[in-house]
Amino acid sequence: MKLQTPAVDHAAVAHAIAVLERGGLVALPTETVYGLAADATNEAAVRSIFAAKGRPADHPVIVHVAGAGAIDEWSKDAPPAAYALAQAFWPGPLTLVLKRSGRVSNVITGGQDTVGLRAPGHPWAQAVLQALGRPVAAPSANRFGRVSPTTADHVRADLGVKPNGAVDLILDGGPCPVGIESTIVDLTGGQPRLLRQGSISRSDLERVLGRAVDAPDAGAPRVSGSLERHYAPRTPLEVVVQEGLADWLQQSRAKSLAVLAPPPVLAAWSGKPVPLFSLAAPDNADDYARTLYANLRTLDATGAEWIVVVTPPLGERWLPIHDRLQRAQAGSLHADSNAEFD
Ligand code: TXA
Ligand code: MG
Repeated sequence: MKLQTPAVDHAAVAHAIAVLERGGLVALPTETVYGLAADATNEAAVRSIFAAKGRPADHPVIVHVAGAGAIDEWSKDAPPAAYALAQAFWPGPLTLVLKRSGRVSNVITGGQDTVGLRAPGHPWAQAVLQALGRPVAAPSANRFGRVSPTTADHVRADLGVKPNGAVDLILDGGPCPVGIESTIVDLTGGQPRLLRQGSISRSDLERVLGRAVDAPDAGAPRVSGSLERHYAPRTPLEVVVQEGLADWLQQSRAKSLAVLAPPPVLAAWSGKPVPLFSLAAPDNADDYARTLYANLRTLDATGAEWIVVVTPPLGERWLPIHDRLQRAQAGSLHADSNAEFD
């Protein structure tokens, strides 16, 4: 199912530009998730992102640019691979980690000597970047530890609008069409290295580069968030293989469940308890990813004792989904776990 993005509201974009120019925070739709944007050239504004999210200062934020023309200004010594990947995937859900240029503030990089650059493809984000004429720094627009927002309502619920909330303006550009965060590839070492899985896969990158890309965990430099605990969803969540469901139900003695599973599993449910609430899991990876965070929020809000997610299919397109589910599971069960959402 393809999602229709609403036409850009130019009056709303003009309002967003005014807010950004005076150092304010704008929640901005991108094709992946909503970002919490500040003028990347305004240090005080970027600093206020961290306060709004409750995020530690040493977590770098991504610099969102209009296109590949910004690479030379915002990074230095970018290798040919950077231009090749930008040409193939920008604007789009790919973040390139490069050596930072003198333009990039320490507040953005969290003190690191690298910077993450991404040109988002969402027409509303593009409209803002073009009208502003300079990049915005933006992490996902959730409180630190919560799953990323994929609708304006998620941002409203998580961060809220001033004076009682943390954001000056939420631009509502509809639900995000990709639904999970961008693929991040580090190009600062000898070999390109995947730091975060997204809808652009490792083999997509390898096809364009004509060379191998290292896997995420191969001694990667710290993607800062990955050491942090998180608490989302609040309901304990377990990813269970379909064949193990009956055993899990018996062992867990859960009294009430909210379930995300393929329709045949739901139709044939014979276990006890019967789900308090259930959602049909899409059978293709794009739809699953697009709806994942909204589904987790819905399941979390049911008041069930447990969330059970039946393990999605295997295969490369499903890897970023398995990754996000593992984080949700680890974070919901162990407050001091290594998994995270930042
Ligand atoms: O799809 C996305 O990437 C969304 C939208 C808003 O663009 N943004 C996003 O930002 O997910 P955030 O801050 O929630 O996650 C970015 C991740 C963090 O784990 C951060 O540590 C990592 O990227 N990161 C940013 N700059 C980096 C750098 N220079 N080196 C290594 N990791 C970096
Ligand atoms: Mg995040």
